[in-house]
Amino acid sequence: PGVSLIGVPTDIGAGARGASMGPQALRVAGLAEALLQRGVDVEDIGDLSGPRTPWLAPVEGFRHLAETAEWNRSTHDAVYGELKRGRLPIMMGGDHSLGIGSVSAAARHCRDTGKELLVLWLDAHADFNTHLLTPTGNIHGMPVACLCGHGPEVLTSIGGHVPAIRHDQIHQVGIRSVDDGEREFIHEAGIEVYDMRYIDEMGMRATMERVLAGVDDSVHLHVSFDVDFLDPSLAPGVGTTVPGGPTYREAQLCMEMIADTGRLCSLDIVELNPALDLRNQTADMAVDLVESLFGKSILVRRPAG
Ligand code: ARG
Ligand code: MN
Ligand code: MN
Ligand code: MN
Repeated sequence: PGVSLIGVPTDIGAGARGASMGPQALRVAGLAEALLQRGVDVEDIGDLSGPRTPWLAPVEGFRHLAETAEWNRSTHDAVYGELKRGRLPIMMGGDHSLGIGSVSAAARHCRDTGKELLVLWLDAHADFNTHLLTPTGNIHGMPVACLCGHGPEVLTSIGGHVPAIRHDQIHQVGIRSVDDGEREFIHEAGIEVYDMRYIDEMGMRATMERVLAGVDDSVHLHVSFDVDFLDPSLAPGVGTTVPGGPTYREAQLCMEMIADTGRLCSLDIVELNPALDLRNQTADMAVDLVESLFGKSILVRRPAG
């Protein structure tokens, strides 16, 4: 299908300012041109607008709750609208709190069409905090919990169904930073998490085989790509770097194996922070990986051998 680029220029849920410049950095890095080169029909529908970031202290465990909800309602509407038009939306964030709007839109589209949603959450962080567990109050640490129904109603109800997704509809890959209370809560919820130790021990290939097991024609794959998934040596331009992430080839293989399923139906690229980047290197890296996600390969490959 054709791809629609949706810019969501905000850092409303982050712990550092600057992710609001993410959409422009991805455009400058040539995201649309790279997809065109792949033979994909691309339309950049421009940027959504919403409240400025007031940069206030958290209130009752949330920083900027009302503003985050507003940005997420717009994100939901835009992503849902593009899916309804038969397009593959790429939501260019913005911080990862926007995953609430984007994934809830994909979930709603799947309810409309009878598809089964599977969310791949590529991230250094589990983003499974609640207002009681969060050490920071930053809502970009809470979207997975909110999507699973654990959060304030203004966020959990955005896609019109609470919870937006079941705990077994999300698989996380690359995780290496989990807060103390968050760890207990993830285990309690039973989320499938492939952390960096799992990847170290099994390798990226076996990891992705397991993550993608059972993905067939009935599945809508939504990839939520937090750029801090990557090792900071590849991706310094993010607000919350964590050492020990996937190498360049591991990240490429991850994207290539997702592409091989042919089931990618929606994508988020989030947490890119140009204020912290070096000569747009992280945006360039993200575009390079997205090319693989859309099927660019080194040699032409024959089906399974
Ligand atoms: N766990 C930390 C927190 O809740 C960091 C979350 C980082 N999330 C992200 N999407 N980069 O504040
Ligand atoms: Mn994240
Ligand atoms: Mn992260
Ligand atoms: Mn599963």
